[in-house]
Amino acid sequence: MSKLATDLVHHPYKPPEGFSAPQPGVFKASTVIFASVAQMRARDWQQKKGYTYGLHGTPTSFTLEERLCRLEGGLQCVLAPSGLAAIAIVNLAFLKTGDEVLIPNNAYGPNKALAEHELKSWGITCRYYDAMNPADLAARISAKTRLAWLEAPGSVTMEFPDLPALAALCRARDVTSALDNTWGAGVAFAPFETGADISAHALTKYPSGGGDVLMGSVITRDEALHLKIKAVHMRLGYGVGGNDAEAVLRSLPSIELRYRAHDAAARELASWLKGRSEIEQVLHPAIEGSPGHEHWKALCGAQGVAAGLFSVVFDGKYSTAQVDAFCDALKLFKLGYSWAGPVSLVVPYDIPSMRDASVSAWSYKGVLVRFSIGLEDVASLRADLEQALAVL
Ligand SMILES: Cc1ncc(COP(=O)(O)O)c(C=O)c1O
Repeated sequence: MSKLATDLVHHPYKPPEGFSAPQPGVFKASTVIFASVAQMRARDWQQKKGYTYGLHGTPTSFTLEERLCRLEGGLQCVLAPSGLAAIAIVNLAFLKTGDEVLIPNNAYGPNKALAEHELKSWGITCRYYDAMNPADLAARISAKTRLAWLEAPGSVTMEFPDLPALAALCRARDVTSALDNTWGAGVAFAPFETGADISAHALTKYPSGGGDVLMGSVITRDEALHLKIKAVHMRLGYGVGGNDAEAVLRSLPSIELRYRAHDAAARELASWLKGRSEIEQVLHPAIEGSPGHEHWKALCGAQGVAAGLFSVVFDGKYSTAQVDAFCDALKLFKLGYSWAGPVSLVVPYDIPSMRDASVSAWSYKGVLVRFSIGLEDVASLRADLEQALAVL
């Protein structure tokens, strides 16, 4: 090797200061370089005053954390490589052997799976509660309960609970409450106004908005809670890449516009489906007759917004095979998990297999199908649904 190799690594040029552009610069690092041993020894990964290692923050990740705090009305934030990783960090930060965690019976499935497998094997008990019945949560809180998850609306079945009532019960019994705020996304309602202690958010959905990034955040308004979360975050090595952070930073300014557009389209399609004879029930918190509609109205306002996500229950006379054929017949709606991206998605679910019937039963006979409404034109999505319904 010639000196060229060294010159290309240690070139002395420094660009002029004062560059300014609509988007913040993107910094990528594993190694962070210190100016002196003294600075290295004085490093402090807990505070955003300096840098220690790529995992513990770069100007790009710090900027994203601060903007997410602004989005959700929080004060501290950690970033995780997925929404599920954000959930895992919260569980690990607040639960130890002998403790109990309470999870809504209609919660995001992988949150329950983590509790039933890893948490259980570490001697942590998981109990499900009926999120639509605050008295049920109250009855299940025990001296061992350390953490309660809240989620609005329930994953897939879309029941909207009385979040302030659930959070108040947790507070009164000294139980830390963590809200999965992915649906509200900081746009539909202010997560900390509900009284929840922690907001976990799958940034994979609306903050990214592209269907191409996996990321999560855990936001707090309490330094002591944050430091517990931050310690677990550090020890697990849960960092996010600079390119992914940049993608979310780029999408964030348009989140409210996109959220409102997804909402308007979803409501139009959900209302249309409500009038179809093939559909027994539309499950959409902003639509009258949906479970918990009054709680959505109380929290988000009568003119409030809702995510572009809803489910329908088909009339019980249609078999699973027929509903599968409906899903297969859709052309613009794609079969795929996740939501909040530009492409409309559809997934059929088997709800009885996803919940504990002794906590809250599922009364419908028909098959449930969930739609995530993308950014396509509503008329073409409705035409797609109409031609697929004809298959039934
Ligand atoms: C309500 C909810 N929370 C959390 C997650 C997890 O997000 P991720 O896919 O980034 O792990 C999802 C993903 O579908 C979700 O729907």
